[in-house]
Amino acid sequence: MLRDDASEFVYLNNAATSWPKPPQVLNAVQESLISPFVGGGRSSGSDAQDYIWDARTAVAGLLGVCDEERVLFSHNATDALNTLIHGFLSAHSGPVHVISSVLEHNSVLRPLWELKQAGRIELTLLPMKGAYLDLDTVSDSVRSETKLAVLNHGSNVLGSVQDLDRAGKILHESGVYVIADGAQTAGHVPLVFDQLAIDAYAFTGHKALFGIPGTGGFIIKDPEEITPIRYGGTGSNSVSLNHPRDLPERFEAGTHNFPGLAALTAGIDFIQTTGQKSIEEKGIRQSRMMIDGLKAEPNITIYNETPDLPIISLNIDGLDNEDLGFILTRAYRIITRSGLHCAPLVHKETDGGRGSVRLSLSWFTTDEECIRAVQVIREVARSANSQISQA
Ligand SMILES: Cc1ncc(COP(=O)(O)O)c(C=O)c1O
Repeated sequence: MLRDDASEFVYLNNAATSWPKPPQVLNAVQESLISPFVGGGRSSGSDAQDYIWDARTAVAGLLGVCDEERVLFSHNATDALNTLIHGFLSAHSGPVHVISSVLEHNSVLRPLWELKQAGRIELTLLPMKGAYLDLDTVSDSVRSETKLAVLNHGSNVLGSVQDLDRAGKILHESGVYVIADGAQTAGHVPLVFDQLAIDAYAFTGHKALFGIPGTGGFIIKDPEEITPIRYGGTGSNSVSLNHPRDLPERFEAGTHNFPGLAALTAGIDFIQTTGQKSIEEKGIRQSRMMIDGLKAEPNITIYNETPDLPIISLNIDGLDNEDLGFILTRAYRIITRSGLHCAPLVHKETDGGRGSVRLSLSWFTTDEECIRAVQVIREVARSANSQISQA
């Protein structure tokens, strides 16, 4: 896509990465790079502004963490989940049974699957009930050697938000450590992490937090439960060959992506100024409006009629979802995502593993864009239907 063409597109792929970014996010990146990098420690950016600590303060404020140093930065949610999963296993010896679910993204499933294949863990995947994690199965899945649960908070396919506080309370009764994958919920769902029965929560910067790719991290209650898996320069106590174990250095080695963290701060400021509630309500209103419109066409199957996040998954009977995605982009300039969305087990349950076309909205999606997308998808559905009838 040429930059000048951008305004002609209807962008409905915000669950992959949000676009457009608020202007202040773009400015923040540029401003962070204009002046030379100053300051002795790694945590000072250009013009003596502390981009890293500013971002910690912003994330802590939005996600309900009392101490900023319990906000740790990484490259993205995948990186944070790997740090948490591998770091937890390094800190805990003996046989480990891990609970996860069929709702997970591959950023959870693949690290766990590798560990299972290497014989390091046993794995139970909890089933879904409708679009949600089946909470009735949580307590029965716990065994004496169950030490860890890694659970999806917001489904990137069905837009369902799991009641992880309830799951966490059940798991905590048996001393199970709970990691939440918050890649889709951070920014969308109001959260007071310190009050939830969740021990660590991974987030990404480039989706609903309006930051740019290459940022993310996790928030944590007790850092001692996770052994660091990366070591290196921290800009502190450099005389020692031992990597510092205090927060935040414990989990942060090497130069930070400070332009990305400046963007993250600006993205969160944008959310706070706009109002998280308004963002949440608008997304729900627009997705329900689109679902009502799409439902009118009998050969459109919608897999999530009441999503909690602005995500809609659908198929048109008789049309491959990759083809529908292609038609929408090439003929109508509507950008969606088709296929398995890196969450293959959800599809096995909902659409027989076929995959779907996903429409995902952001604060910047207009009502007119929603109406246009509905009109176009209905038009394509009607034409697919008439071609099937003629065949
Ligand atoms: C539910 C879920 N978890 C994890 C991820 C991974 O996020 P990232 O690509 O930022 O690592 C995604 C991204 O699509 C996601 O939707």
